[in-house]
Amino acid sequence: MDLVIRNASLPDGRRGIDIAVEGERIAAVGPVLAVTGRREIDAAGDLVTPPFVDAHFHMDATLSYGLPRVNESGTLLEGIALWGELKPQLAQEALVERAMRYCDWAVARGLLAIRTHVDICDERLLAVEALLEVRRRVARYIDLQLVAFPQDGLLRSPGAFENLKRAIRMGVDVVGGIPHFERTMAQGAESVRLLCEYAAEQGLRVDMHCDETDDPLSRHIETLAHETWRLGLQGRVAGSHLTSMHSMDNYYVSKLLPLMRESGVAAIANPLINITLQGRADTYPKRRGMTRVPELLAAGVDVAFGHDCVMDPWYGLGSGDMLEVAHMGLHVAQMTGQAAMRQCFMAITDTPARILGLEGYGLAPGCYADFVLLAAGDPVEAIRLRAARRAVVRRGAIVAEAAPARSTLRLPGRPDAVDFRMAR
Ligand code: FE2
Repeated sequence: MDLVIRNASLPDGRRGIDIAVEGERIAAVGPVLAVTGRREIDAAGDLVTPPFVDAHFHMDATLSYGLPRVNESGTLLEGIALWGELKPQLAQEALVERAMRYCDWAVARGLLAIRTHVDICDERLLAVEALLEVRRRVARYIDLQLVAFPQDGLLRSPGAFENLKRAIRMGVDVVGGIPHFERTMAQGAESVRLLCEYAAEQGLRVDMHCDETDDPLSRHIETLAHETWRLGLQGRVAGSHLTSMHSMDNYYVSKLLPLMRESGVAAIANPLINITLQGRADTYPKRRGMTRVPELLAAGVDVAFGHDCVMDPWYGLGSGDMLEVAHMGLHVAQMTGQAAMRQCFMAITDTPARILGLEGYGLAPGCYADFVLLAAGDPVEAIRLRAARRAVVRRGAIVAEAAPARSTLRLPGRPDAVDFRMAR
């Protein structure tokens, strides 16, 4: 074997497991495998997980914090104004450079698949060209999926639908949208219908910014679910953000959840950004603004967590760590039960992998040898510690390594170091 990991714990709770890798694929998984590897790593009981997957990101804006100036108020509206100021100044090479730098961070964090929205409301489609170039450059180590995103509205922004179709012809993978940003509810619904019909015709997946507002009457997710069902797009459509669901009437939601499940629409919440930007106009009580994650899961709807932003006009924090995203999601949704905490881990691994349609993802024989060895004993400890990535493996090769967190102490009568670990 080319690589063997010894004595690993797996996210499903199995312990004492060896993983054997031959070439780019996992050859065997089981207790005490009778094989030898050209390289062997002793996991010492630590967790091996398939790579982290970010279902929702904006790579055209990332690491632009401070350009052309910082967001002083930290609000969504100043963020949108800032992006408007920055857009005409964007240069392709600088955008590629920032995105490549973020991809370096992502690999170091074990984040090996990212779905990024790319703004197509720019005649030049400069960001599209830049991110297609980035997709080519990082293909060996990151699965980068691009969504054609009409940031200024499909019907509201002149030429947006044509630009979106051009972007798809250039190689963008997924059809995006932003129905709540159209001028009327009717136009929002019309944009959903047009985009879903186009996606069905082209055989593409759909992922819309949908109802990213505190307005309980923003109900475009209903149209998105219905169009998905009508056009036979089950399993290929996601609604991103869905924050209006937080504020909706409970009876209405009791009808909406089964519709979403039956239509096979997935939900993507973005906890760090939703908790930051939503409910801003409230006094007290102040709404939390994240979609109804536990209720969606209980109804059988796939829910993933996305990072959305890192160091951009909307959000001046983040470092590509999906464990930080899960940590925030777990808190905002009050998902502190044992099973619920594990669901939060799935929301940054298996579930987004399914939403993106990643092939060969997982820890079974035959899957790609893509995985992360964490300095944690189980998924809950990984989230608690935002655990160090001891080793990040892509297609059988180690692409990043980090030392586990450890602090030395100088205290009389106490241990000489702590590593914050409990689950061993
Ligand atoms: Fe977004």
